[in-house]
Amino acid sequence: MLEIDELSVSYFPDKKRIHALGPISMKIAPSDIYALIGPSGCGKSTFLHVLSGIIKNYQGQVTLKSNPIDPKKHDIGFIPQNFGLLAWKTVYKNCVLSLKIKEKIITPDQMNRIDYIMDQLNITDLKDRYPRELSGGQKQRVSIARAFIMNPDLLLMDEPFSALDALTREEAQELFVAMWNQYKTTTVFATHSNEEAINMGKKIVILSHYPGTIVEVIDNPLFNTENLRENKAFHTLAAHLRSVVKKGWKL
Ligand SMILES: Nc1ncnc2c1ncn2[C@@H]1O[C@H](COP(=O)(O)OP(=O)(O)OP(=O)(O)O)[C@@H](O)[C@H]1O
Ligand SMILES: [Mg+2]
Repeated sequence: MLEIDELSVSYFPDKKRIHALGPISMKIAPSDIYALIGPSGCGKSTFLHVLSGIIKNYQGQVTLKSNPIDPKKHDIGFIPQNFGLLAWKTVYKNCVLSLKIKEKIITPDQMNRIDYIMDQLNITDLKDRYPRELSGGQKQRVSIARAFIMNPDLLLMDEPFSALDALTREEAQELFVAMWNQYKTTTVFATHSNEEAINMGKKIVILSHYPGTIVEVIDNPLFNTENLRENKAFHTLAAHLRSVVKKGWKL
């Protein structure tokens, strides 16, 4: 269980205090997928940076499996907006990076998992290429592969598909859900897209304008549904998300 209790984050640029997020509290059960939506600047990335350990200075408690969250103790996968691939490493080396650091030696089981996931994401043929030799969609598939190969306790994604064109984006969302259906990795992701939240979020958290607090948590009845856009309930939920996000946007 990931427990967030009265989390509040401030930044201190030039001795000023900017209260960026919170207080927010929530409990995220194993295998859940939480989609965070909310106006630009409401604190989505800030929240993910706390969970990934990039931000250590915050108020409140964040625990994973009853221990304070710590990337040194927990396996936490983070896919940033630019995919986070290392330019000087091949696709294969990028994929196994998190394993190499933690385990030093790749076991036969891990080897099978790597081959299987690379195959599922259709990147086996790309394994000797460098990131600069890949398209946006291919980079995205590599970053998804890397996250699932790591098999993290918690997977975080910051607007993971926003750089992709509509078709590639839909494909990436489908691939993500297919991988999740197999590995059930606990995931929190931020998105600007209501459609993406409905497509990939088991729960959808709507944050208010900054400093972001929780406006609503929706148990998404449409998660893992095929042909979403042909479903009337999809359009009703999308309209609801739009109106709540707008209301929370105090200009
Ligand atoms: N390093 C920083 N120093 C000072 N203020 C910051 C810093 N990073 C973020 N902020 C402020 O904190 C607030 C939350 O920022 P954050 O990047 O978390 O928002 P976001 O919801 O991810 O926005 P977007 O949807 O545009 O990505 C914003 O008002 C932002 O201006
Ligand atoms: Mg952001």
